[in-house]
Amino acid sequence: MKVLISAGPTREKLDIIRFFSNRSSGKMAYALAAAAVERGWEVVMVSGPVNLRAPDNVRLIKVESAAEMGKAIYAEAYDADLIIMAAAVADFTPRKVCEHKIKKTSGNLTVELEPTEDILFTLGQNKPDGQILVGFAAESEDLLVNARSKMQRKNLDWIAANDISKADCGFAADANAVTLLSRNGEKIEIPLDSKKNVAQKIIEVLERSGMGEHG
Ligand code: CTP
Repeated sequence: MKVLISAGPTREKLDIIRFFSNRSSGKMAYALAAAAVERGWEVVMVSGPVNLRAPDNVRLIKVESAAEMGKAIYAEAYDADLIIMAAAVADFTPRKVCEHKIKKTSGNLTVELEPTEDILFTLGQNKPDGQILVGFAAESEDLLVNARSKMQRKNLDWIAANDISKADCGFAADANAVTLLSRNGEKIEIPLDSKKNVAQKIIEVLERSGMGEHG
């Protein structure tokens, strides 16, 4: 049983010392990795820069940018039984990386951003038979409607809908509350709890939902 988990933010370089990123701490993904290792599953984690120690027995692949994360994920995805995209992948990246430090000038600075590849969408388009694909939906409004449409558009089996409008849960917080939606119409509420406990519950649901048949 091989599980592939993506974690943390990505960093999109602007020049040699500056980058665009986001507030993702990686805590949810690292807790998912720990819960999967406890099951005895083989766990590979592709992680952006975070201040966390990977759980023992996790094969950790460190990356920085969305492009690097995509490359690492695609290399590991083909034989994974379960993929959980918990990373907060940047949607945009600077069109040009300046090879020296951008100097201050008197006027405004305009930076042109271009879209990154949607890794989860690509995984959904190339999903081998029997592979379970899980995404996260970080939403600040219309949580379940937006999450369901993301699940369909990206061809996912499950999506963890995360209300990021509340300060105490989700992004960079220690606790989280998610609603798990499945392709088959299931809806499972996991109430506010530590990310460790929420992760264990998510892994239990995925295990119960027929993972054993594929593992
Ligand atoms: N994701 C990805 N590659 C990207 C952007 C997002 O694989 N370039 C994945 C995330 O890891 C997450 C899911 O897609 O599992 C949803 O991410 P989210 O940021 O909520 O949605 P987006 O598709 O980026 O849409 P929007 O930002 O418009 O809500």
